[in-house]
Amino acid sequence: MACAFSNTCRAVIVFIWAALTLLTVHVASATNISIHVAASETEGQALLNSGWWKDRIPHNTSDHCKWVGIICDYEGSITLIDLEESNIKGELGRLNFSCFPNLQYLDLWNNSLSGRIPSQIGSLSNLKYLGLAQNNLTGTVPKEIGSLRNLEILCLNSNNLHGIIPKEIGSLRFLEVLELSSNNLNGTIPKEIGSLRNLVDLDLNSNNLNGTIPKEIGSLRNLVMLDLSSNNLNGIIPKEIGSLRFLEVLELSSNNLNGTIPKEIGSLRNLVGLDLSSNNLNGIIPKEIGSSRIIEALFLDSNKLSGVLSQEIGNLKSLISLSVTNNTLGGPIPSTLFRLMNLKYLSLGFNQFNSTIPREI
Ligand SMILES: *[C@@H]1O[C@H](CO)[C@@H](O)[C@H](O)[C@H]1NC(C)=O
Ligand SMILES: *[C@@H]1O[C@H](CO)[C@@H](O)[C@H](O)[C@H]1NC(C)=O
Ligand SMILES: *[C@@H]1O[C@H](CO)[C@@H](O)[C@H](O)[C@H]1NC(C)=O
Ligand SMILES: *[C@@H]1O[C@H](CO)[C@@H](O)[C@H](O)[C@H]1NC(C)=O
Ligand SMILES: *[C@@H]1O[C@H](CO)[C@@H](O)[C@H](O)[C@H]1NC(C)=O
Ligand SMILES: *[C@@H]1O[C@H](CO)[C@@H](O)[C@H](O)[C@H]1NC(C)=O
Ligand SMILES: *[C@@H]1O[C@H](CO)[C@@H](O)[C@H](O)[C@H]1NC(C)=O
Ligand SMILES: *[C@@H]1O[C@H](CO)[C@@H](O)[C@H](O)[C@H]1NC(C)=O
Ligand SMILES: *[C@@H]1O[C@H](CO)[C@@H](O)[C@H](O)[C@H]1NC(C)=O
Ligand SMILES: *[C@@H]1O[C@H](CO)[C@@H](O)[C@H](O)[C@H]1NC(C)=O
Repeated sequence: MACAFSNTCRAVIVFIWAALTLLTVHVASATNISIHVAASETEGQALLNSGWWKDRIPHNTSDHCKWVGIICDYEGSITLIDLEESNIKGELGRLNFSCFPNLQYLDLWNNSLSGRIPSQIGSLSNLKYLGLAQNNLTGTVPKEIGSLRNLEILCLNSNNLHGIIPKEIGSLRFLEVLELSSNNLNGTIPKEIGSLRNLVDLDLNSNNLNGTIPKEIGSLRNLVMLDLSSNNLNGIIPKEIGSLRFLEVLELSSNNLNGTIPKEIGSLRNLVGLDLSSNNLNGIIPKEIGSSRIIEALFLDSNKLSGVLSQEIGNLKSLISLSVTNNTLGGPIPSTLFRLMNLKYLSLGFNQFNSTIPREI
């Protein structure tokens, strides 16, 4: 979600960064100029060596702080590199990550970068934003990523990364956004993920992750969006998920989850979207599911749910889409369903309901 930033949103972020960087101009004190000129020459040279700035040097200036997509601090050291959607091709490793000790923001979203994420990425110790999504990166997520202790946003989604999610990711205590979706990551979700107490958005969808959903996920008290769909996760939905009081979107569809839907899901009062479809969930639909008055989408289709659809479903006044198709639900279709004025999409087929849809609809 957060990594699919709209251009406006991205522009605002870059603007805020620029403002913060300029601020340091006024507060920075006198410094040893000769050292800093040398340091900044190394940085400029590293940009040139990447080959990415050939056509991005306005008026041929040798001052790399004036090049496209670059912001420096007062001392001429680079704090921001932003070449999103810039048609860059070739290996990511052509940029020498050892050369930017003050880099805080690196955005290379939606280019055609290939090759591995170099382990030298770990030397960017001041990095707060790392955006490499929507490229063609291969290899694994290097464990050195755990050295980026100041990281707030990590987007590696939509690449060809394989291997495991390194447990070192648990060291990123300031992380707010973790987007690893649409790769080929396998292994389990490391329980260390429970240390990321500032996480707002966790998106691991469309990988090959297996094993269970770690109960430690219940420690992520600030989560707003959790997407683990389209993996091979098995076992139960941990009841700890009920601790995620700010959760707005819960996507667990297309896994092999079994057991029952935990009634604790009823504690998620901010839930707007819930998708548990295409799993092996059995038992009844807990009536607690009727507690989120703002839920708009509820997908429970293609499971093994049984029992009846309770009258409480009529409490979900904001519901726009409801699908329970392809389960073994029985009994009558609740009449309260037809009081849901916002409902636009309703799918009840392939069940064993013993009443027909009332005429009121
Ligand atoms: C600046 O750095 C140089 C080289 O390290 C050193 O010789 C010089 O004394 C320093 N000057 C100041 C004012 O600190
Ligand atoms: C930029 O500099 C190169 C060599 O330093 C020169 O060949 C080229 O003509 C210059 N371009 C402009 C637009 O000044
Ligand atoms: C990257 O920069 C570091 C530090 O300047 C240097 O030691 C190293 O050789 C460089 N690596 C490459 C591949 O150029
Ligand atoms: C990525 O950039 C290309 C142009 O280089 C554009 O056609 C495409 O829509 C962009 N992808 C996304 C997801 O925005
Ligand atoms: C990504 O890389 C693979 C192999 O490395 C290549 O076949 C494919 O065309 C590349 N895709 C893009 C969009 O560059
Ligand atoms: C992940 O997949 C690779 C092949 O790409 C395999 O060698 C490795 O054993 C798998 N690891 C796990 C933990 O499933
Ligand atoms: C995950 O899949 C791999 C490869 O198929 C297998 O070796 C491993 O036991 C599985 N792990 C779990 C926890 O199911
Ligand atoms: C869920 O599936 C696992 C195997 O993946 C099995 O060990 C467990 O007993 C099942 N649990 C329930 C509640 O069906
Ligand atoms: C119905 O659900 C089962 C899993 O419970 C799935 O295998 C099957 O493909 C689904 N059928 C349809 C028509 O979606
Ligand atoms: C439908 O099933 C319920 C129990 O599941 C039963 O009480 C009711 O009488 C049935 N209605 C009809 C019309 O068969």
